[in-house]
Formats: sequence, C-alpha cells, structure tokens
Amino acid sequence: MRDYVSWHDAYDDPSSALSWRLSRVRHHIGLVLDARPGPVTAVSLCAGDGRDLIGVLSARADADRVGVTLVEIDPVLAARAVAAAEGLRVSVLTRDAGDASTYAGIVPADLVLMVGIFGNISDADLENLIRAAPGFCRPGATLLWSRGRDADIGDRNETVRNWFGQAGFREVAYEAREGGERAAMGVVQYEGEAVELDAARRLFTFVR
Ligand SMILES: C[S@@+](CC[C@H](N)C(=O)[O-])C[C@H]1O[C@@H](n2cnc3c(N)ncnc32)[C@H](O)[C@@H]1O
Repeated sequence: MRDYVSWHDAYDDPSSALSWRLSRVRHHIGLVLDARPGPVTAVSLCAGDGRDLIGVLSARADADRVGVTLVEIDPVLAARAVAAAEGLRVSVLTRDAGDASTYAGIVPADLVLMVGIFGNISDADLENLIRAAPGFCRPGATLLWSRGRDADIGDRNETVRNWFGQAGFREVAYEAREGGERAAMGVVQYEGEAVELDAARRLFTFVR
C-alpha cells in the first residue's frame, strides 16, 4: 500500500487536486450541517487525518451537536486526527474500515464520508461497498463520495452514480475538476428504508 502519511503532503499545495477536493467536501459538509438542526452523527471511512470534518467543525459554533467517528487504520494519521480534534466530539478508531464489524454501534449515521476510497479498491469491492452503503445511513442521511478520473484508474463515475441510484440514493451534487488531475466528488441522499449493515460482511480491501 502507498505511504498515506506522505500522501497527505499534497494538501500543503492549495492548487492541488486534493486541496480542490477538500474544499468541495468541506463545503458540502457545511451545507449538510446547516440543513440539519439538532444532533447529527457522522462517520468517515478511511478518514486519513480527518481534516475534512475536523476542519468544518473547528470553525462552527454549533460543533458540540455533531458526534463524529473517524475510522483510519494508520496510527500516525489517527494520532494526528486525535490531536486536531481536541475539544470536539470526535472519536478516532484505528481499525479496519473494510470490516463491517468495525461499525457496530456507530451506524446508521446522518452523514457518511467515503472520500479517498473508491479509486483504491477493485471494481468488485466498489460495487459491493455501494450496495452496502444503505446500511451506513439513516433514512435521509447524506453520503459524500469521491473518485478521480485520471488515466491510471479510468473514469468509472457514471457507473458509480448509477450504482448509488440503484441502491436507493438520490444525487444531490456531482462536481468534477477539469485540467490537471481530474478529481471528482459526489453527494447523495439515502431515500430508502432503514437496513442493517451485515457485521459479518467484508466490504473492501485497498489495492494501492
Ligand atoms: C486516499 S486516503 C484518504 C484520506 C481521507 N479520507 C482524505 O480524503 O483525506 C485513504 C486513507 O485510507 C486509509 N486506509 C487504507 N485502508 C484502510 C482500511 N482498511 N481501514 C481504514 N483505513 C484505511 C489510509 O491509511 C489512508 O489514510
């Protein structure tokens, strides 16, 4: 697997595709929180150092109504998230996000982040994860996803968008960066009924 600690260095360049994605993800997290009064629960799979959710919450006066769980397997990144989240209601689990049993007591949530995953798993796992996505969501929950469209991994995003539709999600937004690295992200809302995530299920494994 890549060195995901140094992978995060691309965030230092404000013109990078990663910085573009972060700004879009933060924007949509803010919209979700603005639209949802009262308590909110959020979970981020493969959260890295959690700067998307932590960045938004650090700037909000109402952060204490938001309970967050970040699942990140790398202990260095998880430790950074813990440090950055001081004073916020953020739990960091240094666990395997591809193992559905990790989410016992955490899902369903109101806001689900699957950002920085879809380009790093097989197509079979990608479909599997999207079909399992309802189990992460309360009815009406919002899910943010991302997948780049560069030549090395190809553009699978029409398929991804269709799979979300088939799984009971309505697309709220889809944003794609043209020029340079072709990052993209989507926002979907779960319109189906409550379903339980099968804790015995293997969801995905990173291949890069
Ligand atoms: C592409 S990065 C995305 C990080 C973050 N979501 C972001 O957008 O900045 C993928 C992250 O997934 C983590 N990761 C890879 N496999 C994992 C697994 N099985 N369980 C939890 N985290 C995993 C890596 O350590 C890395 O931090």
